[in-house]
Amino acid sequence: MKINEAKEIVEAHLTKARFEHSLRVADTAVELAKKYNVSTEQAELAAIFHDYCKYRSLEEMKRIIMTSYLPKDLLQYHHELWHGPVASILIEQEYGIYDTEIQSAIYYHTTGRAHMSDLELVLFVADYIEPGRSFPGLDDVREMAKTNLSKSAWMVSRNTIQYLMQKKNRIYPDTFHAYNDLTKHLEGGTLIEQKLIGNT
Ligand SMILES: [Fe+2]
Ligand SMILES: [Fe+2]
Repeated sequence: MKINEAKEIVEAHLTKARFEHSLRVADTAVELAKKYNVSTEQAELAAIFHDYCKYRSLEEMKRIIMTSYLPKDLLQYHHELWHGPVASILIEQEYGIYDTEIQSAIYYHTTGRAHMSDLELVLFVADYIEPGRSFPGLDDVREMAKTNLSKSAWMVSRNTIQYLMQKKNRIYPDTFHAYNDLTKHLEGGTLIEQKLIGNT
């Protein structure tokens, strides 16, 4: 699909503010993709569509979760987690976008997961650091994203978990899996091993 066609489709489904966020995520994702040798075409299309289902009704999203292969435990968690997985299915059903790499980047853009691909990392980080956002600690993630994609993703998952815990929210298991997996890879894995050895 041509990127302008994708933008037109998405614009019709989002608020102005959310559409502009999507455009900024796309610019950020393309920047990161260039830096980390990821397909800029896939990164841009994934970013444009990542929040495509943000404003679907809860009933529709629930129905899609119930009647597809999506994990039913999503329904036990905050509905904010539903729009990514639902969009990964609907872009294929409605527009024939069948690209499992793009679809899984969209699927996991909110939670992350263990063993994320570089494209998944690009969207996960771009959604968090796009220039329209501002909150404490964000500049550190932006700085890190300039030199180390997986460490910046680790910071995103750490910050997200801290934020959700502060709000006493439940945390979807994939969010922990992302954090644990990315932690394992920090400093080539030596950091965590040293800590474990140091504790014995
Ligand atoms: Fe989102
Ligand atoms: Fe987003």
